[in-house]
Amino acid sequence: MKEKKSNFSNSIGFVLAAAGSAVGVGNIWRFPYLCAKDGGGLFLIIYLILVLTFGFVLLTTDIAIGRKTKQNALKAFGTLHPKWRFLGYLTFLVPALIMTYYSVIGGWITKYFCEYIISDGSALSKDSYFTSFITSKVSPIVFMLIFLALTAWIVYRGVEKGIEKFSRFIMPGLIILILVIAIFSLTLSKKDTDGTVRTGLQGLWVYLYPDFSGLTVKRFLEILLDAMSQLFFSLSVSMGIMVTYGSYVKDDVNLNKSINQIEIFDTGVAFLAGMMIIPAVFVFLGTDGMASGPSLIFISLPKVFEAMGPVGKITAIAFFLMMGFAALTSCVSVMETLVANCMEIFHKTRKQMCSMIGIYSLITAVLICLGYNALYFELPLPNGATAQLLDVMDYISNSFLMPFISFLTSILVGWVIGPKYIISEVERNGEHFGRARLYSFMIRFVVPVVMLILFLVSTGIGNL
Ligand code: PHE
Repeated sequence: MKEKKSNFSNSIGFVLAAAGSAVGVGNIWRFPYLCAKDGGGLFLIIYLILVLTFGFVLLTTDIAIGRKTKQNALKAFGTLHPKWRFLGYLTFLVPALIMTYYSVIGGWITKYFCEYIISDGSALSKDSYFTSFITSKVSPIVFMLIFLALTAWIVYRGVEKGIEKFSRFIMPGLIILILVIAIFSLTLSKKDTDGTVRTGLQGLWVYLYPDFSGLTVKRFLEILLDAMSQLFFSLSVSMGIMVTYGSYVKDDVNLNKSINQIEIFDTGVAFLAGMMIIPAVFVFLGTDGMASGPSLIFISLPKVFEAMGPVGKITAIAFFLMMGFAALTSCVSVMETLVANCMEIFHKTRKQMCSMIGIYSLITAVLICLGYNALYFELPLPNGATAQLLDVMDYISNSFLMPFISFLTSILVGWVIGPKYIISEVERNGEHFGRARLYSFMIRFVVPVVMLILFLVSTGIGNL
């Protein structure tokens, strides 16, 4: 049985839903960490340039393909060119892989949120707390289930009544929370035992100051690669998600304007996340506190909340609520993409496909949880890191598939069907696409070369 094609009710609904997908754990935990690691303001400048060039090109491509074909990635690429159907299948793999672990991370956030509600949170600031939680057998699965059920329920309610409706109150809520915490973070200060005082404003300087010291060509390329892979993940491009959301956009919506708004939203939240986290960590833990990955959010920040004293608990609750919002709307977009693609391919109803994808997500997420105990292993990755099950999924989807898909998409759009196809979709209602020439140039010459390099370096085939 075929259901009627769903749509976002208007441009704001679309922008908030797409921003909901884009704004996720990547903005709040990975962006600030990369900034601190890669020279503060230097990283910011590079990232901003990439958003305005690569980000805009890839986002425009995905969304325009979706709206023009009114199809999901699995079918859309075949519609663009029958020989390129395989690209749809490749693209589908990314959300299928991300789905396996995103709800697990969502579960961790849910757990921390609940713990801060019911306790004073002092246990969470202990070094071993996070590891003993994720390696325990039952708890991570229970919290993952709560988060997954919430995600599935929103997707089940559909595009307008579920995704759009929830994004409409979650996204403004997220902005308010992040603004309040970021401003609060700037007002912090602490006196060390030796009498030195560290303030939030000094922390802001650490964040914004472009540190060029020790900058070599190799180091610059490393920063560029960090910024580039962050950009993909952050904008949710090259994984079919924005194609799916684009297919729900009505023909009278001004795509160019909406894309600019989504970019501003996503980059703005990442910037604010840095303003929220870096000064706070600087004040309480010094410059060494900015450890990578999960430890920043789940180990360093609880220490910061603990050190804040009485306001720490309420700040922590606000923080994990905001982080939960960000993760939820992203996870919804991943699941929606899987459900929508399968509905189209198997001609089944949303309800049927939600159950099928729900079961898939459940089984794979349990496996990921078990990756920290019963199924524990460490695998060396081609890029030199060692990885557990979750990291392996992350690596295949983000470091391997996404640059490869972007490379192929740029060849298809730039050279096979031609950039005009996308440009005419953006200008559908006579809108002015100011950066049309930049778009054509980028998609034909710059994106393929850079994506190929990114792919080779991050898979370890090419060395910096
Ligand atoms: N864009 C999200 C973030 O920045 C992550 C995400 C990736 C969401 C893939 C959906 C799909 O965290």
